[in-house]
Amino acid sequence: NKKGFIFDLDGVIVDTAKYHFLAWQQLAKGLDINFTEEENEQLKGVSRVRSLEKILAWGNKTISQDLFNELMSKKNEEYLSYIAEMDESEILPDVPRVLNTLKAQNQPISLGSASKNARIILDRVHLKSSFDAIVDGNDVTKAKPDPEVFLIAAKEINIKPEDCIVFEDSVAGVTAANAANMISIGIGSKDVLGHATYVFNDFTEISDDFIKSLIEN
Ligand code: BG6
Ligand code: MG
Repeated sequence: NKKGFIFDLDGVIVDTAKYHFLAWQQLAKGLDINFTEEENEQLKGVSRVRSLEKILAWGNKTISQDLFNELMSKKNEEYLSYIAEMDESEILPDVPRVLNTLKAQNQPISLGSASKNARIILDRVHLKSSFDAIVDGNDVTKAKPDPEVFLIAAKEINIKPEDCIVFEDSVAGVTAANAANMISIGIGSKDVLGHATYVFNDFTEISDDFIKSLIEN
């Protein structure tokens, strides 16, 4: 029995939201916009472009296209400076166990992330070789909640969408997985991810038996 297991990156494998927050906050400060952690929560799973559009809207600011582009690359430079310091200690609890269980069961594993920095991050935490395919923000034209990223991730491992299982921490990501006709597993709070097929607070709550039941059904 073969299923396709697709993992989101940010908030599922590593907690990078804190680094995105620091970088966006720095940028917002330069524009005299007060950017809060609650607002940062709403940027989870949201593309880089869309995130800046939202921050500008919250701060009632309009800027030229040139400045917009300049701020986008500045934000990423700042973000990359935090990423450069990452190591294996930042992998979220029990992610390696679940990856190992899947590997032991010969299940294909794909990454389906909105980030254009996914490969750099996987390198930093030494998890690149755990993935049979990596699909990220460089490979798509439509951002989550569009299902494109997950459909490509499924195709790359030769598994039909309806045989894929997606691990996601964001509202947009769960919506994308559902739209792709995949089983969605929300990692986070039921209050936020109630539209997922299953929801767990984190991977420590996902047993090997549960993983095996996903493979068999
Ligand atoms: C998502 C993050 O995974 O990737 C978002 O949750 C981020 O916060 C998006 O904006 C794009 O990432 P990047 O690394 O290309 O700016
Ligand atoms: Mg995420």
